[in-house]
Order: sequence, then structure tokens, then C-alpha cells
Amino acid sequence: MSIKIAPSKGKLGILTPGIGAVATTFMAGVEAVKKGLGEPVGSLTQLGTVRLGKRTDNRTPKIKDFVPLAGLNQLVFGGWDIFEDNAYEAAVNARVLEPELLRKIKPGLQKIKPMKAVFDKNYVKRIDGPNVKTKGSLMDKAQALMDDMKTFKKTNGCDRLVTIWCGSTEVFHKPAKVHQTLATFEQAMAKNDPDIAPSQVYAYASLMSGVPFANGAPNLTHDIPALLTLARDREIAVCGKDFKTGQTYMKTLLAPGLKARMLGCSGWFSTNILGNRDGEVLEDPGSFKSKEETKLSVLDQILQPNLYPELYKDLFHSVKINYYPPRGDQKEGWDNIDIFGWLGYPMQIKIDFLCRDSILAAPLVLDLVLFLDLAQRAGMKGVQEWLSFYFKAPMTAPGLYPEHDVFIQLMKLKNTLRWMRGEDLITHLGLEYYD
Ligand SMILES: NC(=O)c1ccc[n+]([C@@H]2O[C@H](COP(=O)([O-])OP(=O)(O)OC[C@H]3O[C@@H](n4cnc5c(N)ncnc54)[C@H](O)[C@@H]3O)[C@@H](O)[C@H]2O)c1
Repeated sequence: MSIKIAPSKGKLGILTPGIGAVATTFMAGVEAVKKGLGEPVGSLTQLGTVRLGKRTDNRTPKIKDFVPLAGLNQLVFGGWDIFEDNAYEAAVNARVLEPELLRKIKPGLQKIKPMKAVFDKNYVKRIDGPNVKTKGSLMDKAQALMDDMKTFKKTNGCDRLVTIWCGSTEVFHKPAKVHQTLATFEQAMAKNDPDIAPSQVYAYASLMSGVPFANGAPNLTHDIPALLTLARDREIAVCGKDFKTGQTYMKTLLAPGLKARMLGCSGWFSTNILGNRDGEVLEDPGSFKSKEETKLSVLDQILQPNLYPELYKDLFHSVKINYYPPRGDQKEGWDNIDIFGWLGYPMQIKIDFLCRDSILAAPLVLDLVLFLDLAQRAGMKGVQEWLSFYFKAPMTAPGLYPEHDVFIQLMKLKNTLRWMRGEDLITHLGLEYYD
């Protein structure tokens, strides 16, 4: 039995708090693909397939033909930023895409003008900008965001919206008392409680407007009881946190392989140089701490030192990010991995990943908004764990440890799609081929 999924009719509005490098590379990329100026490389929704039935059935449709996703021509973009630059100017400043490509899609990008942001310098210390909401309490600002969403939807003739946080990384922030229930959260917003982060005001406004919400940064944001209960009560799909792109993506490829062969690991030293605005924000120790937490959690969860103490109990794991402007968005990440094999004999692995941060993140933004919209139309509410595939710190039900192994995450994602369409789940048992 397949589940009921409402059709993807009309326009889907994508709203990004934060119109910086990632958001503009995503928006510009979609416009470029629509014009045939490039391919959507890295996007599972656009290029990926899903095997159905037995290996001998030869049924492997494209994911976008198998589940009713919104098409690229149905997407409309908008968002908020503390800077007044439109998406074209922001993309030029981000220096990710070639000026020549940007010129070809300039008219579409110029139309995307940032709405006034909800901002608090205590949460993002290294930047400041003029395009902010100044009137009233945080509750009034949440109301203003809801009005922004309503106006955007009406002006652009959208059928549905999805919000995805592409704003700067906020400082490390633990769940506090005010985050426990919706009532305490709302009271705290009305009183401008310093425990409410701007990203939480966006998440609240989005959920109150019935709009699915994803978080691409490591901030706490909606990963708190008050907002998760709101999402479930209002039957809204949510997911997060922190796009899994460069070095952490490499880790979740390699670590499961080491564990699969029962190879030990005594040390994993990771360092990066990064010169974009994100790198500048991460120079602040508070923002870096948010990142460090999500980056460090991955190895422990994959390697499970409690189950394999002889292999991983003494693992020393260190992650550093250095702001280095000459490199811009073209990050370089080095890993030195000390592993050991049979009888404890040591070996080493070195990785030098010369990557492009926003080029890796943009297709994840596209997949996430399309899948989150699909989940919403399929009546799936609360945390969408099947989208863990895209995150460094996947959100899960309380008390459930997250699955970080990228191959298990992919299997979970594809099985969820099969389940939606009433197809058999694939267990890879395969005994029937030998009967
Ligand atoms: N690129 C990657 O590979 C990657 C991977 C994982 C996570 N991320 C996260 O994605 C986010 C975006 O990254 P980026 O490279 O585009 O950064 P960026 O600095 O280029 O863009 C972030 C934008 O958010 C704006 N902003 C900050 N606070 C805001 C607020 N309260 N409301 C509205 N706008 C606000 C900033 O002005 C800026 O324009 C960061 O948090 C980053 O850590 C990126």
C-alpha cells in the first residue's frame, strides 16, 4: 500500500534566512540548470535513481520520476539577510560562481531582494548589517516574519513554502528552561529573553505559518522540545542540522569502512583553511564551538568505542578551522588518520581535500527543500530522520542516537521513498536468487 501524497501543483517558494554563499550558489545553480548552462551535479533528487524490486527486474527509475517532487521550474526564491545586497550582488561578493555565468542569470537573481532580518549580534559576533527588524519584542519580530511569509506567498502566487536556514553559524547554545514548552518559549520571546536565538525566531515563525523548516547550520535552533512539539502538533516536517559537505562527509565515508574491516584507529587530526564569510564567523570561539560539537560527534557515533574498546577507546580526535582569506570559498581540508591493523601494527592515511564549500552544499539545499516539501505533502510530521543523509548532526527522536554512516543513511532514505510508493523495502538479503 502506498501512502497518500498530495500532488505537487503550483509554485513552491523557498525561503532562506541568510542569502550568502550557500544560498546564492543554490539559487543561481537552479537558474543555470533551468537555462541549460550546467548540470545539477551532486543532487540525488535530480540525478539519482532508486532500484525497485529484485535485481533481475531491471526497474531503476530516476528518483524524480518515482516520487512526485516539485520541478525546478516550480521553484521561487526569497529570504532574509542583514545585508541589503540582492541575490546577484551577494553571489558576486561570495565569489563562488564565475562572473560570466552570473551575468547570464542576472535578471532572475536581481529580483531576489532580502527581507529585513531578525538579528542579534550576541549570537553572530563577527558581522553586523543594516537590514534588520528593530521594532518590538522577539515575539513581534516573529509576527513580522510570519507577515513576510504571507506576503511572499501571495505576491509570488506560491502554493506552498519551505524555509531552510542558510544563515551564519550562531554561537554554541544549550537547551535552557525556556526551550522546554511552547508556553515558556513564547513568554521568553515576549520578554526578549537572551536564551532565544534569532534562528529560533525564524523556526517558530515558519512552524506557526505551517511551513516546513530545515537547518543547514549547527545551531540549536528547532532542536528543542518547545519547537519539536509545535512541529508535531501542527503536523509539519522538520530536519537538521549542519550540511554534511567537505571533511565530515569524507569522515562518514571512511570511518564506516575502517570499522567494517575491524581496523583500529588511535588518532584523527583534521584541520582546514577557509576564507569565506562563514570562515570569518567561525573565527569567533562561540560559533566555532557549535561547529566543533557537530564535527566531533560523528566519529564516536560511527566507531562505537563502547562496543569496540580494543579498536577505538583511545581515539584522539581533533578538528580545527582556520580563517585564511586568500582561499575564499575554496577550502582545503587535511586529515591525518592513525590506524592500526593485525596485532596492532600502525599505519597512516592522509587526505588533502581541495574542495569548494558552497559547490558541495548547494545540491544538498536543493534536495532538502524538495524532499521536505514531499514529506509535508505525504503527511509526515516532526523530525524527518530519513534526511539524516544530508546532515553532520542529524536530528532524531529524543533518546535515539543518530545514524552517521552515509551508506546506512542512503539506504534509509531510499527505503523511505519505496515505502511512500508501496514498493518492497530492500534488505539486501538476496537468498531468493539462489533458490
Ligand atoms: N558551505 C558548506 O559546505 C556548509 C556546510 C555546513 C554548514 N554550512 C553552514 O551554512 C551556513 C551558510 O554558509 P555560507 O557559506 O553561505 O555563509 P555566508 O556567511 O556566506 O552566508 C550567511 C549569511 O547569513 C546572514 N545572516 C547571519 N545571521 C542572519 C540572521 N539572523 N538573519 C538573516 N541572515 C543572517 C549573513 O549576513 C550572511 O549573508 C553557515 O552557518 C555554515 O556554517 C555550510
